[in-house]
Amino acid sequence: MKIIAVANQKGGCGKTTTAINLAACLGKKEQRVLLLDLDPQGHSSLGFGVYNEDARDLYDVLTGEIGIEDIILPNVFTGVDVAPATKMLAAAEHLPVRSDERDIQLEKHLAPIRDRYDYIVIDCPPSMGLLCFNALTAADLVLIPIEMSLFGMHGIDRMYEIIRELRERHGRKIPIRVLPTLVDSRTRLCRQFLHEVGERFADDVLSVMVQFTVRLKEAVRQGVPIIAYDPTSTVAVQYDRLANELMFILQDPAAAVGESESETLSRLTAMKRAFEEARSRLAGHGGRQKVVLRFYDFNGRDVKLAGSFNDWRPDQGIVTRTENDFVEKVVMLMPGAYQYRLIVDGIWQEDPSNPEQVPNYSGGFNSVLQVEEEQETASA
Ligand SMILES: Nc1ncnc2c1ncn2[C@@H]1O[C@H](COP(=O)(O)OP(=O)(O)OP(=O)(O)O)[C@@H](O)[C@H]1O
Ligand SMILES: [Mg+2]
Repeated sequence: MKIIAVANQKGGCGKTTTAINLAACLGKKEQRVLLLDLDPQGHSSLGFGVYNEDARDLYDVLTGEIGIEDIILPNVFTGVDVAPATKMLAAAEHLPVRSDERDIQLEKHLAPIRDRYDYIVIDCPPSMGLLCFNALTAADLVLIPIEMSLFGMHGIDRMYEIIRELRERHGRKIPIRVLPTLVDSRTRLCRQFLHEVGERFADDVLSVMVQFTVRLKEAVRQGVPIIAYDPTSTVAVQYDRLANELMFILQDPAAAVGESESETLSRLTAMKRAFEEARSRLAGHGGRQKVVLRFYDFNGRDVKLAGSFNDWRPDQGIVTRTENDFVEKVVMLMPGAYQYRLIVDGIWQEDPSNPEQVPNYSGGFNSVLQVEEEQETASA
């Protein structure tokens, strides 16, 4: 049995949506799944249409009043049981427990049902309290959905730190996987975020991402997972892939139904490559960097830039920014060496501010621009 904790202290990043749909996709693949709602808001229970204010929940289990078996609602969806949450669960944050046992309560209470499930998916609350610590400690994998928005990455470093501390305290490895959510690749900002996430979390980023769609909101409102509400939608496919990928990571490749281990491996490798390509394409860079050339010597004059990067066509593919005392030329370039000239008021000349020059075929000089790996180049 493997435990996947879906966690991020940032609210509204898609934890619950991911927990519900991941659980449902695993269930569809003939896995025995328990969705454990660890959020007193009870949104996972709602999303599966089983929220009941008077239900008993993990609070009663943590107080030792009843066993975890007693709160489980069986067969809520194909292959999926749900352990629901109610507002009462908030009180669990304040239960008196021995300090050396604080983080392992949940793990202890899950022990009697370990053999009943292949996967337990935990929907964590949006705060780093006792409940979340317990989930992280019990987890075989922490799945962090990151919303592709301005504040989406806030607090993630702190989460990594906490997971590292827990790892050390309990002497266990807890792999982390990052899932970009609410991806709207039509917006440039979102493309930038995707690029940033890829750079920052590198190998922890999954090959799959979840796009923004109102279909998910509609499904939640109906109390069913997306694979039941709209099974052919892109997000249904994306969540199915997420399930496959996590199953593989958690070393159960044979369970990725109908595939041999090598097929799964090659599919995941291909997906990873496709994702990398999509990400760099979406980021609009394709490995290119922004290079800014700034000129102070041409106040009020018409300045164009031509070089080996734009087939010597003046200003083609170049963005010009003019300020009072300088002109900037912005161009996206791969690392490497380029030659260029300026065209000032229609007259071709070398860049007077750049001492790097090479003779050209017309008896003059071309200026030389060296673009290093990952840095902006400015000429003054
Ligand atoms: N891919 C998506 N496209 C569109 N809407 C989405 C998507 N994922 C989630 N949402 C919507 O965004 C809102 C927040 O999602 P969700 O409840 O899953 O986040 P959460 O991280 O669990 O929030 P909380 O921190 O409050 O528990 C919900 O209204 C949900 O329907
Ligand atoms: Mg939630």
